[in-house]
Amino acid sequence: MLSGRLALISGANRGIGLAIARALAHEGCNLIISGRDERALAKACAELEKLNVRVLAHSCDVRSPDSVDYLFAVVRGLRKPLDILVNNAGIGHPNRTVGELPYPTWMEVIDTNLNGLFLMTQAALAVMKRGGTIVNNLSIAAERIFPGSAAYNASKHGGLGFTNTLREELRPNGIRVIALMPGATDTAIWDTLWPKAPRRKMMSPETVARAVVDALLLPENTTVEKIVVMPSSGTL
Ligand SMILES: NC(=O)c1ccc[n+]([C@@H]2O[C@H](COP(=O)([O-])OP(=O)(O)OC[C@H]3O[C@@H](n4cnc5c(N)ncnc54)[C@H](OP(=O)(O)O)[C@@H]3O)[C@@H](O)[C@H]2O)c1
Repeated sequence: MLSGRLALISGANRGIGLAIARALAHEGCNLIISGRDERALAKACAELEKLNVRVLAHSCDVRSPDSVDYLFAVVRGLRKPLDILVNNAGIGHPNRTVGELPYPTWMEVIDTNLNGLFLMTQAALAVMKRGGTIVNNLSIAAERIFPGSAAYNASKHGGLGFTNTLREELRPNGIRVIALMPGATDTAIWDTLWPKAPRRKMMSPETVARAVVDALLLPENTTVEKIVVMPSSGTL
């Protein structure tokens, strides 16, 4: 059912994004993968191409309207509708109370996790049609509160408000919108968030990717609006 579809995944050069790209490739999806680190992107591309799907790797900084425009000029050049958009690019920040959080850190997190989500989604709407799906990788931090993570919590709460609005707006267009809300997943983001976090309790990125593919495989007249997937032992 996903075979031959075209999927764009932001932040797909590592972590959850790369795991979703891999899982979609296993289902036969052709891929556009993006991220800023071009070396990591090239490595991911080489790996994914071995799965016998078409892969286009294009660097993009989701904070930059020009960079997002450039990426979508390339997408339009393919002359095919985009079937799946996975807004996955995101960053965390070190644990700091609001009183201690530097404004540049606040700005960078909001710019990446929230403004980037808007820019990528708005650009994608022009190349998506009925039957398409948008998956926004938020976090359980979109609903729960983690003290010391004000910018991250705010960006993800804002992302959920944006996602819920988008879903209602796109219902008449037949485009499904899914809020992906994983709990702790063993990726590089924890090097920033909490370097000493107990990794063995975390989910693998592959587990999160499986939940996404399962939702995408549902019939087109059905949707999972919110995927909350987390370690069965609870939050860390
Ligand atoms: N790991 C968890 O426990 C967890 C739980 C819930 C939700 N999430 C969410 O999952 C998403 C992926 O994170 P991850 O855990 O897989 O961490 P990760 O391994 O650090 O991956 C983050 C990805 O985002 C990309 N990225 C960061 N800033 C970007 C920018 N300005 N423009 C374009 N791409 C950018 C990174 O590539 P470049 O640096 O090369 O640009 C990388 O590919 C994030 O939105 C995160 O909030 C993670």
